[in-house]
Amino acid sequence: MYICNCNGINQKAVAEAKRAGARSALDVYRINGCKPQCCKCVPEMAQLIAQQDARAAS
Ligand code: FES
Repeated sequence: MYICNCNGINQKAVAEAKRAGARSALDVYRINGCKPQCCKCVPEMAQLIAQQDARAAS
């Protein structure tokens, strides 16, 4: 499932960026070599990162 339609970033790419050290949506864009465009995906991406943080902490 795509999280960012503008840049073609899917859940797997977010998880990989997280493993590469992403702490924010901006980090995910940077690691994937792109920039936010419409920014509609930022809340969902931030939520996904937070969920992965919570899973890693449990
Ligand atoms: S959907 Fe991610 S920048 Fe537009």
